[in-house]
Amino acid sequence: MPKVKVALIGVGNCASAFVQGLRYYGKLNQENSVGLRNPQLGGLSPNDIEVVAAFDVDERKVGKDLSEAIFAEPNNTPKVVEVPPTGIVVNKGPLLDGVGKSTESVLKISTKPDVNVENTLKASGAEIVINLLPSGATQASGWYAEQALASECAFVNATPNFIASEAAWAKRFEERGIPLVGDDLVDQAGSTALHKTLLRLLSMNGVKITETYQLDVGGGTESLETLDRTRETKRIIKTQSVENSLPYKAEVVAGSTDYVDFLQNKRDSYFWISGVYFCNTPLQIDLKFSTVDAPNAGSVLFDVVRAVKIALNKKHKGAILPVCAYAFKRPPQMMPIETAEQTFKTFVTENS
Ligand SMILES: NC(=O)c1ccc[n+]([C@@H]2O[C@H](COP(=O)([O-])OP(=O)(O)OC[C@H]3O[C@@H](n4cnc5c(N)ncnc54)[C@H](O)[C@@H]3O)[C@@H](O)[C@H]2O)c1
Repeated sequence: MPKVKVALIGVGNCASAFVQGLRYYGKLNQENSVGLRNPQLGGLSPNDIEVVAAFDVDERKVGKDLSEAIFAEPNNTPKVVEVPPTGIVVNKGPLLDGVGKSTESVLKISTKPDVNVENTLKASGAEIVINLLPSGATQASGWYAEQALASECAFVNATPNFIASEAAWAKRFEERGIPLVGDDLVDQAGSTALHKTLLRLLSMNGVKITETYQLDVGGGTESLETLDRTRETKRIIKTQSVENSLPYKAEVVAGSTDYVDFLQNKRDSYFWISGVYFCNTPLQIDLKFSTVDAPNAGSVLFDVVRAVKIALNKKHKGAILPVCAYAFKRPPQMMPIETAEQTFKTFVTENS
């Protein structure tokens, strides 16, 4: 089986966890598959995934081998494995709106000339482009979606920018005969999923939730980014997603984020749930959930890449709804978690 060839757009914390994960799970056996949702998916293992190109704008990453760039500042996700040289040198892509007010003090923009991204993608043999740009990089995300179209690569939009969920983009990928998935990757141990599951469990049992919130603090560049550019978008996506898990209206606030530098790439999520049950008796849940952010994307990204490869093999095109609903917070069509799981499994089984 040939390798699944991917290009990474943005060599930040998420890319670091992804590349480290490829090494960590490189030679899969039962013991070291712990932490993976699907050691095998449609006959593919993580070992079948190969990074063939990478793009960034930071001078500490551009021109470096990927194995070095993933550990360069301001990345701060933990090093869990040594990554030997990959032979993949990080290319300089155009900056566009890649830097926001909050992040301009932590990014050092390379003065090297931009490469021709379309030609570089074509020459690399990439089949799938993974968009791991900062969440506020709306213009750059759209620009890279155009590059994927031009180089006939499938596009995975892990960012909360609206691409796969926009009918106009989905139509363009469909016309070009290429798969598109997004938007905003779900986490493996996700605070939104945990929140929704708790609310569903309570409401299924007849509890009336009256108010609930979920607030996050983190120390990765992405948490800093959220301060000035994406707080509102993240809040809308997460709040809508959480509201959808309740069969009635309640006061919901989800997805407000703040930045605490010493947390490094850790993320603390605080949940508050208030409601009433039998005879109007009040209940409250006050919960803290701690994770490291970037590794939380790894297992889901491995599933997405392999599912998109399956879609490519079967010549599926446009927004691939089962993959979007399973792995993204804002899919073109929202489904309850169980339905999304089942639809994804059916898609993989029927197409591999
Ligand atoms: N668990 C997770 O980490 C998770 C979950 C869901 C979604 N996401 C999304 O994934 C994306 C990446 O997250 P991250 O934590 O790796 O962010 P990050 O800030 O650590 O990495 C972003 C990288 O993009 C680079 N960059 C900026 N502008 C660029 C441009 N124009 N061209 C090329 N590179 C550019 C930066 O230098 C940096 O290396 C974010 O949009 C985030 O919302 C992450």
